[in-house]
Amino acid sequence: MQFVAYTQYTHRLIASIHYVTGGLGSRWNSSVMFLSLSPLMKRGAWCVIASTMVSLAVLLMRMRGTIGPSLRHDHQLLRRPLFKLDLSWPKSPELFTGEVFGVAVNQHAGVVYVAQRGDNVPKVLVFTTDGDFLMAWNTTTLEMPHGIFLADGGSSNPTVWITDVGDGPYGHCIKQYSPSGKLLQVVGTAGKKGSGLNPLQFDNPAEIFVHDSGEMYIVDGDGGLNNRLIKLSKEQEVLWLHGEKGQGPAQFNIPHSVTVDDVQRVWVADRANKRIQVFNSVTGEWLGTWGSCFTEDAPYSVRLTPDKKYFVVVQLNTNQISLLRAPPVGSIGQCVVASVIQLAEEVKPHLVDLDLETGALYVAEIGAQQAQKFTPFSL
Ligand SMILES: *[C@@H]1O[C@H](CO)[C@@H](O)[C@H](O)[C@H]1NC(C)=O
Repeated sequence: MQFVAYTQYTHRLIASIHYVTGGLGSRWNSSVMFLSLSPLMKRGAWCVIASTMVSLAVLLMRMRGTIGPSLRHDHQLLRRPLFKLDLSWPKSPELFTGEVFGVAVNQHAGVVYVAQRGDNVPKVLVFTTDGDFLMAWNTTTLEMPHGIFLADGGSSNPTVWITDVGDGPYGHCIKQYSPSGKLLQVVGTAGKKGSGLNPLQFDNPAEIFVHDSGEMYIVDGDGGLNNRLIKLSKEQEVLWLHGEKGQGPAQFNIPHSVTVDDVQRVWVADRANKRIQVFNSVTGEWLGTWGSCFTEDAPYSVRLTPDKKYFVVVQLNTNQISLLRAPPVGSIGQCVVASVIQLAEEVKPHLVDLDLETGALYVAEIGAQQAQKFTPFSL
């Protein structure tokens, strides 16, 4: 059992108490408590944190019917990759001027791309992983960015892929940009929604994952005509697809986020079906479904931690970031929640990305109108 509580202070989340216990059956045989506090913390917030900690400790002792000495550290639990909020990122949060729908990070270039929506706002803001502001794009070829993905294959000049769900002349397609926002190519048919495969058309394409090989996985879409998972070759020929709306295996209802692991498995957040579906990336064969973790709220994002041990899945309506245990090769099994970060109400986390070097997690928050950085604990 775990809780992570956040207090809110001057419109930003500034502190977290992480309280973790583990046990077998009804016997709690281990517990650990730790605290992370921002340097910006003010005295009032300290009091809130301190009193919450004391209450939690008292609660635990009551539940155990014992006092302090039986609390002991369990390093197994401490090694779990829980995250803490990095309040120093970005250094100029006032630059967020719209609703933040997507975020993408590249560890080689040390850059974070943030996609936002709104009238007369730059659709993409670029920061360093240290939080310095680099640039705002001037392009007029973006309407309503949804998913954003940095493809690089190890280069320090990643190109930027964005899915656009707008209804105007630049909408309903997927675009590749240079790092500074020069349009390089359009996948699909700009401005014309549809289900065609030749030429390709999309309707509210939700997200794209581009492999180092150049092969692409597209989820299409975010509540439009289509409910498809499409794999394209580097030359943009359809290699395989699943395109039926429904609740059965390999059918979708709002396929919203997609990622590919190192062992040829494609993971799709099948949002309105409240499940994650898994496919073989080479053949497209359906491998399994996880649903039991999402009875309360649907998965919106799916990404892997760099050690490939956990999936990071956000749930927008319950304002949660969940870490799910990644299954071993050859088995999908049932989903297991390893850890949850509870965000404040109305933050509405939407999509995420992870720095594959440091393990830092970036979260696009529609309600809070910002992107936030969380760094992993390694105790
Ligand atoms: C956007 O336009 C401004 C003003 O012309 C310019 O200074 C800036 O460099 C441009 N940004 C990018 C990313 O091209």
